[in-house]
Amino acid sequence: MHIILFGAAGNVGSRVANEAISRGHTVTAIVRKTDQLITLPEGVVDQLGDAGDSALVAKLSEGQDLIISAIRPSEGSEHLLPLLTKSLLAGAAQSKKRLLIVGGAASLEIPGEKDQTVLTAPGFLPPSVLDIARACAEQHNICRENIETKWTYISPPPMLTPGVRTGHYRLGSEQLVVDQNGQSAISMEDFAVALIDEAEHPKHHQTRFTAAY
Ligand SMILES: NC(=O)c1ccc[n+]([C@@H]2O[C@H](COP(=O)([O-])OP(=O)(O)OC[C@H]3O[C@@H](n4cnc5c(N)ncnc54)[C@H](OP(=O)(O)O)[C@@H]3O)[C@@H](O)[C@H]2O)c1
Repeated sequence: MHIILFGAAGNVGSRVANEAISRGHTVTAIVRKTDQLITLPEGVVDQLGDAGDSALVAKLSEGQDLIISAIRPSEGSEHLLPLLTKSLLAGAAQSKKRLLIVGGAASLEIPGEKDQTVLTAPGFLPPSVLDIARACAEQHNICRENIETKWTYISPPPMLTPGVRTGHYRLGSEQLVVDQNGQSAISMEDFAVALIDEAEHPKHHQTRFTAAY
């Protein structure tokens, strides 16, 4: 596949790029700054661009099979995430390409706690991540309301950390996937495996899924 990847220099994006390249896909990595070009994973095609420019998203995705977004605004600019998401959705609708969005855990429901999500459950999240969690919940709503674009929203579990690739994970839809200790976690490497599995074998159309151990 030919994949265009926004946020390719980031923690998640770089692992997604590596996973895709290791499976023989062609990855065009989009970054905003020239100094990020040398930080990109080996083997990508690099390209400058901004996810906030929907016409550019459409133009850059011509000739691609799939758009993946792993963008995250910097701290203090979390409010930009909904706008950037609308831009990606609009660009993908224009080019008629499938769009996989790496989102947040915020809107996942807590098993056994009726009507509570990661964001709304009292004390679940530390105050330091509330701004990005609120932005991710809004981002998810924007996707849910969108009927023009072939989107898929992938929620990581609350604990998404650098680690190792095992190739193992379990899928969920609206609820947290928890292990026998009640933890919901995955390495960024295995999250990338789940994402590229979805890219290769699409199962979730205009809906959300999650992946954890
Ligand atoms: N448990 C959770 O829910 C959880 C935990 C971690 C991450 N995540 C999600 O995973 C995604 C990626 O997070 P991350 O940790 O990999 O973030 P990251 O390391 O900060 O990387 C994000 C990348 O996005 C780029 N970016 C920001 N705005 C952009 C724009 N307008 N156009 C193009 N690129 C842009 C940034 O580049 P610049 O340097 O140009 O800004 C950066 O390279 C986010 O959606 C985040 O919410 C979720």
